[in-house]
Amino acid sequence: MVFLEMKIPLAKPIFDEEMRDAALNALENERFVLGESVLKFEEEFARYCGVKYAVSTSSGTHALHLSLLALGVKLRDRVVTTPYSFIATANSALHVGGVPVFVDVSMESYNLDPKALKEIRDDGVKAVIPVHLYGFPADMRAILDFADEHGVFVVEDACQAHGAEYFGRKVGSIGDVGCFSFYPSKNMTVCGDGGMVVTNDEEVAERVAKLRDCGRASHYEHDLVGFTSRLNTVNAAIGRVQLRRLDEWNRRRRRNAELYNRLLAGVGDVILPPATTAEIKPVYHLYVIRTRFRDQLKSWLEKNGIQCGVHYPIPIHLQPVYRRMFGYKRGDFPNSEILADTVLSLPMFPELKRDEIEYVCEKIQEFFTHKRLRG
Ligand SMILES: Cc1ncc(COP(=O)(O)O)c(C=O)c1O
Repeated sequence: MVFLEMKIPLAKPIFDEEMRDAALNALENERFVLGESVLKFEEEFARYCGVKYAVSTSSGTHALHLSLLALGVKLRDRVVTTPYSFIATANSALHVGGVPVFVDVSMESYNLDPKALKEIRDDGVKAVIPVHLYGFPADMRAILDFADEHGVFVVEDACQAHGAEYFGRKVGSIGDVGCFSFYPSKNMTVCGDGGMVVTNDEEVAERVAKLRDCGRASHYEHDLVGFTSRLNTVNAAIGRVQLRRLDEWNRRRRRNAELYNRLLAGVGDVILPPATTAEIKPVYHLYVIRTRFRDQLKSWLEKNGIQCGVHYPIPIHLQPVYRRMFGYKRGDFPNSEILADTVLSLPMFPELKRDEIEYVCEKIQEFFTHKRLRG
């Protein structure tokens, strides 16, 4: 097969006729804000996750922020989390006036390292935010043990992990609260910004529902200092259709990951993504390999029409704003820094074809063969 013209994107959001019809129907027949589709989407999302309540928000960032507020995390409270995530995870602690306390990640899972967690001796800790990075479940047993021992809340950042399972439970449903993002690149989207908070705690759900709606107790009565952080009806209508497809899309992502794993095993110095087990079912929001030659390989693949990404080139503690606020420096969280220097996200989406994966892997093989020949 001739692949010269192949162009493969990193991700490809899906928007089809059924979603368009659902969106139009919602626009024509429902209230634009907090319409019927929002309530139905929340019910269906709660059922999917196996929890009692789901409250939608305008983004994953707001899902995290409002969850911490609803749990009572406040000024100067400490929130333990990973420095290797999208910046919104740690920012949520700052948004409530708290302080993020970073714990480095494990090189096995790229998520919060249980051994490093054990070393935390901090009386002011109010919550821990594990992140299921790239759709790979964090070690929730260790995190729940930590939370029990310190008497703190667990807020799962499941923004990259819709449908991932940990010992038979959907991530997001294991801690006190779970937070999701529906940003367009995610495993399911609302074709715009959006988020969701899931919980079994009725009071927390009620508080988040008020906080996202201007603190309303009723239309003209406000008993909390809230925000305008609602999910639009039209987006919820699209989300409902996407949710019905999520399991099939995740199945295809796993199948794609298996093929990548097979074709990339033993190639150059490539390290494959964290291994799955019968109890841990990731959803490959991203398919991330590691190599010392990351930047060269990325340029080579892009020259060959293959779009790649780096999630993330700068760990949160080394972001300018965090260096400025907390004086962090290189060397503070070595594993996160190794990841930042070596990770490479390859194309991953449900409609990715077998021959496209084969082409990507062939080009990676070629890169390392040339490298060896050049010495
Ligand atoms: C791990 C993680 N946390 C939080 C967020 C924030 O979500 P949003 O972009 O919807 O605000 C994202 C999404 O980008 C994310 O990947």
